[in-house]
Amino acid sequence: MSLPKITVIGAGNVGATLAQRLVEQNLGNVVLVDIAEGVARGKALDLNQSAPVMGYTARVTGTAQYEETAGSDVIVVTSGSPRKPGMSRDDLLKINYEIVRSVVERAAKASPNAVIIVVTNPLDAMVYVALKASGFPKNRVLGMAGVLDSARFRTFLAEALNVSTSVVEATVLGGHGDDMVPCLPLARAAGIPVAQLLPAEVLEAIVQRTRQGGAEIVKLLQTGSAYYAPAASACRMVAAILRDEKAILPCAVWLEGAFGLHQQILGVPAILGRQGAEKVVEIALTAEDRGGLAKSAEAVRGLCQQIDQWWK
Ligand code: NAI
Ligand code: 2OP
Repeated sequence: MSLPKITVIGAGNVGATLAQRLVEQNLGNVVLVDIAEGVARGKALDLNQSAPVMGYTARVTGTAQYEETAGSDVIVVTSGSPRKPGMSRDDLLKINYEIVRSVVERAAKASPNAVIIVVTNPLDAMVYVALKASGFPKNRVLGMAGVLDSARFRTFLAEALNVSTSVVEATVLGGHGDDMVPCLPLARAAGIPVAQLLPAEVLEAIVQRTRQGGAEIVKLLQTGSAYYAPAASACRMVAAILRDEKAILPCAVWLEGAFGLHQQILGVPAILGRQGAEKVVEIALTAEDRGGLAKSAEAVRGLCQQIDQWWK
């Protein structure tokens, strides 16, 4: 049986680690694209030479040419510049706007039926760029951030509870920025609301740490940002789409009224399947979380307005 075709644009830390996770799970043959062609080809060769040891059959092709991406089922966009210490995600807006616009225009043309997952920051604004650059239906352009931010939230909760991360469920909504909304009412350990298990001040500290989860790693690494958990999170979304799982995952998607938000991108729970974000799952939020979501939405709207000005 032939494997699906997955294009990963950007062979840097996130893109290459994602390619590794995708082939190790045999989810598809990967085309790894980078402006630095040698890097893409070298990493592809290295990954292919891992196959006999690891026992996967999926192949990786490294290239700078979009013709080789033709007919992809999923396109993941990781190309761009990562955050440096002291740099906000929003500082990256202009540089990554230009990169994401140009790569998506080319990749979308080569694979008109693909689902696009954007990873490049500032995330929500880059999903907006990909939506405009591809001209794809709104359900086929989404962003990865909620799965990662929720994974961080779950990790910190599990550590505080001294339980396995596998029993902790938690969701982060909103934009992938300082105003993201880690939803405490949705956080549970084996079905038990975490508010019954941890003191309020511990929970508040975990919420703050989650919001700063990316910056904490940037500060430690000094030369770049997180990539293991981001790659795992993007891989999870690719798997949900290719297997038509109908999994509910928090993703950055286009909203047309859900959560009181109109005509904009923001991170909310969505059902992921072969058609991308097939349905937004609207849930009741506390007044505080609803307010937090509105604030986060406003920050994203500002960036998208800036993009609209540059677009002409
Ligand atoms: P990196 O610097 O390791 O890799 C970026 C790659 O993009 C480089 O190999 C570079 O050559 C390539 N590139 C640049 N311009 C290109 C173009 N026009 N065409 C093709 N390739 C091009 O960066 P890293 O760590 O992989 O991060 C990538 C992006 O993902 C950054 O914007 C980062 O902020 C973002 N990110 C987002 C996360 C999220 O939760 N949404 C999590 C982690 C990273
Ligand atoms: C992160 O949250 C850099 O946005 C990236 O790790």
